[in-house]
Amino acid sequence: MAALIVCASVHHGNTRQIAWVMAQALDAHLCDPADVDPSEAAKYDLIGLGSGIYFWRHHASIVRFAQNMPVRGDQRFFIFSTRGGFPHWLGHRALKKTLRKKGAHVVGEFSCKGHDTYGPFKLLGGLNRGHPDADDLERARRFAEELP
Ligand SMILES: Cc1cc2nc3c(=O)[nH]c(=O)nc-3n(C[C@H](O)[C@H](O)[C@H](O)COP(=O)(O)O)c2cc1C
Repeated sequence: MAALIVCASVHHGNTRQIAWVMAQALDAHLCDPADVDPSEAAKYDLIGLGSGIYFWRHHASIVRFAQNMPVRGDQRFFIFSTRGGFPHWLGHRALKKTLRKKGAHVVGEFSCKGHDTYGPFKLLGGLNRGHPDADDLERARRFAEELP
């Protein structure tokens, strides 16, 4: 099984940590959306798309990748993120909608807290300091290993 993980992690590299653990578990090719043409997705059986959540959605480069990639009925997709605070379903909604419109088969979603120093939180040292932590990374590894 060939697996690809595309991850944008622009704030503190939080989501990159999650993506790396998942890539190890799945023996997946891990890359930034800037470094892979969406047409490459055709070569893979399992594709993970993730980023931090910025203004209630995934990074624009991930959504764009999803919009432009080809989708086959026999491929499986999963979505992941790190986030400051809002429930993950809110942040995953836009990307999920994009994938659904294309007929992509989404088999799992993962999200955990990530250190967030955006705006006034910076003055307090940020939200979720130390996240993702060892437990978050372990949960991410298990999620990847147990994907259907
Ligand atoms: C510009 C900006 C906007 C953000 N908007 C949200 C948001 O809408 N909801 C949320 O839960 N977290 C939000 N966050 C927090 C990030 O999702 C969180 O810090 C995440 O772990 C960043 O991941 P990264 O280090 O991989 O980029 C925002 C952070 C930034 C910098």
